[in-house]
Amino acid sequence: MLVRINETYDEVSKEGARLVAELVRRKPNCVLGFATGSTPLGMYKELIRMHKQEGLDFSKVTTFNLDEYVGLPPEHDQSYHYFMWENLFKRINVNQRFVYIPMGMAADVEQFCEWYEAQIVKAGGIDLQILGIGANGHIAFNEPGSSLGSRTRIKTLTGSTREANARFFTNQDQVPKYAITMGVGTIMDAKTLLLLASGEGKAAAIQATCEGPITAMWPATIVQMHRQATVIVDKPAASKLTLKY
Ligand code: PGA
Repeated sequence: MLVRINETYDEVSKEGARLVAELVRRKPNCVLGFATGSTPLGMYKELIRMHKQEGLDFSKVTTFNLDEYVGLPPEHDQSYHYFMWENLFKRINVNQRFVYIPMGMAADVEQFCEWYEAQIVKAGGIDLQILGIGANGHIAFNEPGSSLGSRTRIKTLTGSTREANARFFTNQDQVPKYAITMGVGTIMDAKTLLLLASGEGKAAAIQATCEGPITAMWPATIVQMHRQATVIVDKPAASKLTLKY
């Protein structure tokens, strides 16, 4: 695990974008795994800038998103479909046919999850998976206690996650109770992992991820077992690390 500590969120975003852009230039038909949440927004802005000003070309890229709320249609303004199109996809030149996001309205969730896993395999696997991290150590919606070998499936969101995400809804009761999420095992199959974190609220989770024992109670700790993982954090998110990097 390579841990990179930057001064600011802006630098975290730019470094993340640089690594994604390097891959897209080296392998124009690469498979990118995208994440939602506040953390990757700065990186997405930088990727949009690179597309507009430097001609970074996403036309051959295939994308898979980590997760989606169950019960929210793609046009709902808090769905992750909406988030991705608003904040990235409609501002770059991705081909809609190559965009995969879990379908929160799937009639048969189990069948959908199997199909989603199969599409990842068919695309040749994910070359680079972008990850945020929850204050509780979740990656995607793999909440504490998730099997470290899990595949794409439906998960119940914990109270702390629903509380953290209530800021996007009118109140906490509006936050969906379930999500479809790639499993921890699905994420670990990606060839490269890029985990971004910013702010003191993530410091305990980052400390556990980089220095703690591997445990399903902090699902992100499994990243220690990945052969090509980079963790990019700002100073506040790094503030509880005890080793010198
Ligand atoms: P955030 O969410 O980027 O909005 O902090 C990350 C997560 O919960 O995985």
